[in-house]
Amino acid sequence: MLLRIRISILLFITPILADYAWQDQLNAREDWQKYIRSPPISTVRPVRVLGEYTRGNVTNPEGLLTGRGSTILTRNGTALNTTWAYADPYDTPPAIVVDFGQNIAGLLSIKFGGAYNTTRGLPGIRLAFSETLQFLSDLSDFSRSNNVSYPTLATSKLTREGETITPGSDQIAVRHNPYTWTAERGCEFQNKVCNDGLHGFRYVKIYLDSLPWDAPYTSSYGRVSINSMSLNFTGFLGTADTFTGYFESSDDQLNQWWYDGVYTNDMCTDTFRLSDTDPRRAGSPTLVGKLVLHDGAKRDRDPYVGDLAVASRTSYVSHDTSIATKNVLADIADHQRDDGWLPPASINNYTLPLYDYPLWWVACSYDLFMYTGDVDYITKYYPNLVKVLDTFYPSTTDSSTGLLDKRLGVTAGYGDYAFLPRNGPVTYYNALYVIALDNAASMARYLGHESDASRWSARARNVSAAMDSLFDTSAGAFYDGICGDVPCQTHAQDGNSLSIVSGVANSTRAKSILSYLSINNARPYGNSFYDNDVIGPFSQRVYAFISYFEIEARFKTGLADSALEEIRRLYGWMSTHDPGITTWEGIGPDGTPYEDGFTSMAHGWGTGVVPALTNYILGVMPSGPGFSTWSVKPFPGDVKWAKGRVPTPKGPINVGWTRDATGFFLSVTGPVGTKGVVSIPVENGTVFYDSMIVDGRMDNGYMSMAVEGGGTHSFTVRYEV
Ligand SMILES: *[C@@H]1O[C@H](CO)[C@@H](O)[C@H](O)[C@H]1NC(C)=O
Ligand SMILES: *[C@@H]1O[C@H](CO)[C@@H](O)[C@H](O)[C@H]1NC(C)=O
Ligand SMILES: *[C@@H]1O[C@H](CO)[C@@H](O)[C@H](O)[C@H]1NC(C)=O
Ligand SMILES: *[C@@H]1O[C@H](CO)[C@@H](O)[C@H](O)[C@H]1NC(C)=O
Ligand SMILES: *[C@@H]1O[C@H](CO)[C@@H](O)[C@H](O)[C@H]1NC(C)=O
Ligand SMILES: *[C@@H]1O[C@H](CO)[C@@H](O)[C@H](O)[C@H]1NC(C)=O
Ligand SMILES: *[C@@H]1O[C@H](CO)[C@@H](O)[C@H](O)[C@H]1NC(C)=O
Ligand SMILES: *[C@@H]1O[C@H](CO)[C@@H](O)[C@H](O)[C@H]1NC(C)=O
Ligand SMILES: *[C@@H]1O[C@H](CO)[C@@H](O)[C@H](O)[C@H]1NC(C)=O
Ligand SMILES: *[C@@H]1O[C@H](CO)[C@@H](O)[C@H](O)[C@H]1NC(C)=O
Repeated sequence: MLLRIRISILLFITPILADYAWQDQLNAREDWQKYIRSPPISTVRPVRVLGEYTRGNVTNPEGLLTGRGSTILTRNGTALNTTWAYADPYDTPPAIVVDFGQNIAGLLSIKFGGAYNTTRGLPGIRLAFSETLQFLSDLSDFSRSNNVSYPTLATSKLTREGETITPGSDQIAVRHNPYTWTAERGCEFQNKVCNDGLHGFRYVKIYLDSLPWDAPYTSSYGRVSINSMSLNFTGFLGTADTFTGYFESSDDQLNQWWYDGVYTNDMCTDTFRLSDTDPRRAGSPTLVGKLVLHDGAKRDRDPYVGDLAVASRTSYVSHDTSIATKNVLADIADHQRDDGWLPPASINNYTLPLYDYPLWWVACSYDLFMYTGDVDYITKYYPNLVKVLDTFYPSTTDSSTGLLDKRLGVTAGYGDYAFLPRNGPVTYYNALYVIALDNAASMARYLGHESDASRWSARARNVSAAMDSLFDTSAGAFYDGICGDVPCQTHAQDGNSLSIVSGVANSTRAKSILSYLSINNARPYGNSFYDNDVIGPFSQRVYAFISYFEIEARFKTGLADSALEEIRRLYGWMSTHDPGITTWEGIGPDGTPYEDGFTSMAHGWGTGVVPALTNYILGVMPSGPGFSTWSVKPFPGDVKWAKGRVPTPKGPINVGWTRDATGFFLSVTGPVGTKGVVSIPVENGTVFYDSMIVDGRMDNGYMSMAVEGGGTHSFTVRYEV
């Protein structure tokens, strides 16, 4: 007995002690909560008044922040001039700019301490909102009203086009006695003194002024006192107790970007309300009152299925809000066209013609199935899946090649996620088609529809093989569609990245493509859509959305360092430029918001850093519906340790790994009744599984081992040094 114990100690003492030490180090690191960006409660207050923006007669500008006395705006109105007050240089409207400290979305309230008016009516307050200081002016950077012409004094007639009720600023007629005003979309007097309601913004300019149109209800003169301001945050309030998953690593910046991405997505996770969705006929009765994932906080405020390809993954690994995805996917399927086409969103009453989004509906349905195991959803909408894949896409397939061709069927004028003007057998559409077909085949197999599964798999392999003709061997990357009769001499980030994610490109081609993109598409603020401007001015434009798939392609190809390098350029840029924290809709030349003030600076589709870090740095992915089976395969790059949790329907998967000069250690706990495969990077040395030596097969530098859920398992590599 004594002898046997001695022997076992001799054999296993080193790894066991090291395992404990490593496990202790990982356990000690438990401060992910410090990265959380959510306000602690839904009532959010401004944090500062930007003194350099204060104009005119303002006393105690900081009073509204501190509660020590009111902030008073006075405009005494010597000039009895009823025309545009602005034109008079001696009559500066008193103004202040408050900063909420970070991008937020919701309904603003102002607690007025009272007002003194002149004979010309109640003093008017006008508000202008902006996500950035660059686009802060007397009108909001974006308003649901400002796409259509507003009456000037010359026309003095309010033409109600679209949902226009303001000129881009919001108006208030401040009453004499103290009261709290809350932004509700609408007008105080018939169609006068109006405001847009909800805004997404960081800064708000408050100034004493009125629209001539709003006379006699408001005047530009008088005195207004403001006691305080607050915002009722309408997104998902992602406080620490709401996180079902988390991520933490040795890299402080990566950690912060993960939580920044989650916060951005939370801002967009909101109830669908007619009063604040996109004004372009997006207000769908079948969505009203449901939790959805809007594509942006300020705009477009409509759930788009392409955006969900990223935003839903962010939600699955961070919060229990998958119902938002299900609501949107189901609503889109309920509006399927007779020919099988699926609308991208409710905009234009479900008619915006996009070519790629029906394929994203398939991919997003697959993700929902894999992350949540929702059999009811996929069973109900299985006929929609069959129709889009077997009716719509075949109607736009070139029968001689098997490739999708955007000139065929009804699709010639169709757009895509970026309205890129391209045609023919475009690499992106075909690579995405392969993903959709493989995802659909996988779902069909789980549901027992074997013949659908084999038909779709065979078609995926056919498309994949046919895509060989789209490859530019001289560049080592795929072309992008047809210009005249020949391939366009241009190479796009989207198709090339998806060719790798879909498995169309083998590892040799993957490395060549990624090297091409690194050399030709890298910008200081991310990687661009295109290497050149052959089909449009896109070589300086960066979308975090489609860049996510390039980042994923880099990890999958084993190029973790280059994936992290791209993440650091892209997210490093956004996080250090106004408004900070939130991820943008698009980046243009020189790293500016790509559509100026119209750009949404909090867009869920830009949050790919969240799933990228969870799936590839922590290494956790579902491999069966609802994580019935799963995998853990970290791609560390220069990260020294990582730990985190991924929620599954049966309970969380907890993973931690750490490494040093002597070895690599990973521990994993999966839910009871599930099975996983753990792959650990093994450069050399001895591998232990729960302290037992393993002698397994190596594949691309990884050794893979099957594990059962229900307990904690540890894996250690002791390097030969
Ligand atoms: C500024 O406003 C205050 C408070 O209403 C008033 O007492 C003061 O006379 C005003 N100053 C000027 C220069 O108009
Ligand atoms: C208005 O303010 C100006 C100074 O800004 C002052 O000269 C003038 O007397 C004031 N007029 C009234 C009516 O208070
Ligand atoms: C009112 O102001 C405008 C613009 O400064 C000026 O052109 C106009 O003459 C003024 N009217 C009166 C009555 O002072
Ligand atoms: C203030 O405005 C109201 C509404 O326009 C008006 O009825 C009232 O006479 C004004 N008061 C003063 C003191 O000018
Ligand atoms: C305004 O609306 C029209 C028609 O829907 C559209 O063509 C145009 O692009 C919009 N402009 C802006 C700035 O949103
Ligand atoms: C905030 O807005 C929500 C949704 O409109 C509402 O239910 C809630 O009562 C509001 N909260 C406050 C404090 O006004
Ligand atoms: C939207 O389209 C549906 C079906 O085509 C139609 O019944 C409905 O009236 C349309 N709604 C609006 C607001 O145009
Ligand atoms: C794919 O299918 C099409 C149409 O059936 C066929 O013409 C083509 O040869 C196939 N391509 C490959 C590479 O198998
Ligand atoms: C990758 O694909 C290319 C083109 O089909 C082929 O020439 C090459 O041999 C493949 N490489 C590997 C490693 O399979
Ligand atoms: C084994 O791998 C470790 C970590 O990369 C390295 O430090 C060590 O030199 C390697 N030993 C041998 C014998 O290759």
